[in-house]
Amino acid sequence: MIVLGIESSCDETSVAVIKNEKLLSNLIASQDFHKKYGGVVPELSSRAHLQMVQPLVKQALEESKISINDVDLIAATAGPGLIGALLVGLTYAKGLAYSLKKEFVPVNHIEGHIFSPFLMDEKPEFPMLCLVVSGGHTLLLLVKSYTQIVKLGSTVDDAAGEAFDKVSKMIGLGYPGGPMIQKFAESGDPNSIEFPIAQLKGKFDFSFSGLKTAVLRHLESNYDDFQIPEHDLPNLAASFQNAVVKALSQKVVKAIKTFDIKSLSLVGGVAANRAIRNSFVEISNKYKKKLVIPDLEYCGDNAAMIALRGLQVYNSGKRFSFSENAFPALPEDLFESYQ
Ligand code: KG4
Ligand code: ZN
Repeated sequence: MIVLGIESSCDETSVAVIKNEKLLSNLIASQDFHKKYGGVVPELSSRAHLQMVQPLVKQALEESKISINDVDLIAATAGPGLIGALLVGLTYAKGLAYSLKKEFVPVNHIEGHIFSPFLMDEKPEFPMLCLVVSGGHTLLLLVKSYTQIVKLGSTVDDAAGEAFDKVSKMIGLGYPGGPMIQKFAESGDPNSIEFPIAQLKGKFDFSFSGLKTAVLRHLESNYDDFQIPEHDLPNLAASFQNAVVKALSQKVVKAIKTFDIKSLSLVGGVAANRAIRNSFVEISNKYKKKLVIPDLEYCGDNAAMIALRGLQVYNSGKRFSFSENAFPALPEDLFESYQ
């Protein structure tokens, strides 16, 4: 079974080919030009996807040494994401599938992230405790099977990636914030400034807006007009990052102690963060759980995870018509709730 995957939910156009779960190619075109606007400009993103999708499909097929006729199934991200951006990839996929009489599967982007550890050689085992940390979502999930996912907790305000991006902007490191904060944090002392970690009623929920405000208050009381001397940036970045790591790890440990899990995983754009990855390695060693974190290439948005999820959904027996539409937000009923 050969699957062509297309991802266009935000600022990465990506096209991948998998054959029976084995990855043949995964091309990612990042729209770096958004940097100068300090964030993703939706209309510009849609236009860039429009320019990139066709050449990437051509290149992915060439790299995989197959022709479009060899493809059995076309999978594309349907949501959540920027609606104009999603429509480009999804409509392209539907058009291609319709004209070539191929099977078509719309894929939920977050499900793509959740099952991205299965792209690795070492596969996770169910039940898998999965932390999804991306620009738009922070979710702690108990993944029981390919089709049964229980939501243990989520953020009550900002997503983890959003906190990285906002704090980065605040301290003048620009967009995207995660990689910049990580870079500066490397030469800083994570314990130099004590930022708060939210204690919430919801056992497995997260909150990052208080942390963001604490950083703001710290800047207001220590610097005139936000003029932060360059040599203070590493300690600021490291202390903020440390607070995020602690907030995430606390809930993960709590969940490990509560549920009988077989494996642990960390997915989404923020899963690229070295400090968070290291903390997961420590947790998995301490509690003797199998840990599978995707390689960096599969943490950020990529079509390999979309192709793989498309295949899993197809194999579960689900079939879709071409009337399937793009959707901007995470559907309420995607996960079972935990009580
Ligand atoms: O999953 P993703 O690529 O896009 C969404 O679906 O949101 O995640 C993007 C987020 C951005 O907020 C970015 O700042 C963050 O991932 N990110 C990181 C790192 N690399 C990317 N956050 C922390 N450390 C990193 N190294
Ligand atoms: Zn994503």
